[in-house]
Amino acid sequence: MSTAVFHEDPAAEMLRTERLKQLIASEDSIAENKVNAEPLAEARVSPLLPPTTEDVEEPVREEPHISTWTRVTSIVTLLLFYVMAYIRESYRKVFPHPNKFYRKGYAPIVKDFDDYWNRRFYRRIRECFTRPIDSRPSRVIGIMERTVKDMNSEFEYTGKITPAINLGSYNYLGFAEDTPSITYDVLDTIDDLGLASCSGPQELGQSAAVARLEKEFAAFLGKEDALVCGMGFGTNFRGLPSLFGKDTLAVSDTLNHSSLVNGVRSSGAKVKVFKHDAFDQLETILREAVILGQTPAGEYKPWRRIVVIIEGIYSMEGEIINLKKVVELKKKYKALLFIDEAHSIGAIGRTGRGVCEHCGVDPKDVDVLMGTFTKSFGSIGGYIASSKPLVDYLRQHSSIALHCDTLAPPCAQQVVSVLNVILGKDGTDLGRKRIQQLKENSRFFRRGLMDLGFIVLGDDASPVIPVMCYNLGKLAPLSELLLSRGVAIVVVGYPATPLLESRVRFCVSATHTREDLQYVLDVMRDVSKDVYMDYRTHSSIFQYHQ
Ligand SMILES: Cc1ncc(COP(=O)(O)O)c(C=O)c1O
Repeated sequence: MSTAVFHEDPAAEMLRTERLKQLIASEDSIAENKVNAEPLAEARVSPLLPPTTEDVEEPVREEPHISTWTRVTSIVTLLLFYVMAYIRESYRKVFPHPNKFYRKGYAPIVKDFDDYWNRRFYRRIRECFTRPIDSRPSRVIGIMERTVKDMNSEFEYTGKITPAINLGSYNYLGFAEDTPSITYDVLDTIDDLGLASCSGPQELGQSAAVARLEKEFAAFLGKEDALVCGMGFGTNFRGLPSLFGKDTLAVSDTLNHSSLVNGVRSSGAKVKVFKHDAFDQLETILREAVILGQTPAGEYKPWRRIVVIIEGIYSMEGEIINLKKVVELKKKYKALLFIDEAHSIGAIGRTGRGVCEHCGVDPKDVDVLMGTFTKSFGSIGGYIASSKPLVDYLRQHSSIALHCDTLAPPCAQQVVSVLNVILGKDGTDLGRKRIQQLKENSRFFRRGLMDLGFIVLGDDASPVIPVMCYNLGKLAPLSELLLSRGVAIVVVGYPATPLLESRVRFCVSATHTREDLQYVLDVMRDVSKDVYMDYRTHSSIFQYHQ
């Protein structure tokens, strides 16, 4: 692993190292990787602030402004990348590379610009994107140390595990860590039902644990029924094509996740996109769709259905959808509404019921609620919850039911047990406390970053907290500098974001302590000087992020 250089005085470094040691020492799963005897939550979460009375929150957003200097340097960095890539590409045309990356007879995995991007940009900095871990995704995580060779073409593991404060996993409520009651339920399920279903639901695959999960999750969401799929991405990708056809108009937010984009594309539905959060544009699209129908230039033929597709929390922006507004529009134009709650279910709303609860919207006003168990529930898989006839239809006709193995029984049990904790059915208030703690932690960390002068996207209640870097060239050094100070982060660039909108995406967990978060804030303050990220301290001449 290459070593980052930073400018810190030795006394400050000693103090920081001592603080880090203490934080890491309080996480035993790294050292022992086994079931803990004590519940984690009671020992680790910071004291709760008084419960809030308001469930309904209006989003408070700040438009980010950055200095001309940042804008210019970001563009110059990108141009330099391009020039160097062009020179290398031209050279390789004359002198083809003899190494194994250019295997004859193999089709490229990606084509055109993305192939070029992978070879000339991504591969050179991929060390900061693909770090393997050797621990639970707990508040402290074990990063497998590796050395890189030949410009990141090859990695070699040193066998050492580096512990770091984990600000990158979607372990929002901390249930991917060990909570003994949940872990024992899961272990019992492995004993009773085994590890896998070994067939799809329409064959012999639906285990009792999955059936229980479907029933209990539908009740949790306030829906008549739910269908569970073994993979979150697959829930959209395989579920949407059975719901829509050519006579459907899908009106989709520009920032929707690729599982939604690909699912809608393969459904054959006509797609219209509206700019993220641009509700005027959404209204125009809906109005025109109703007035003009399927054939604007010909005889009037109405759309069989018009479906608005949005997410609860946008995972690269940390923004919570203004659901009240969308519901108002969907009702006005008699459209259907599909929400992907991958990041919001469990994480927001007073009782973890997601964006409907957060925004004070009746779940009955949302036609289809979809979500995944990979975030707040510390498991895997996804669900589609809706009316009974719709879910029954999916059970008969979707490829979720026909072609996928069902969710593994222990994974289903994990979700059921977490749900019991969230609902207090386990006889504790751990679930309620975790939800409240997540909210407090998210707010504390977001506000802390903003006070330090970073450009932070998203809403206060969101546990996804993106900090803008803009400049592509800063991603690798930033990630490396933070790791060398014991903080594991996720950096995000193209194609997940536009080319000039690279960012760090912090994910806060309920199990982070105030000390953890304060430590990361202090590290960010120091490191920002090395990578020049304190944008707000410079004059803003024009707005960059639109
Ligand atoms: C909005 C959204 N939908 C679907 C998915 C896919 O879920 P999974 O990772 O559980 O397959 C994700 C993944 O993060 C997501 O952010």
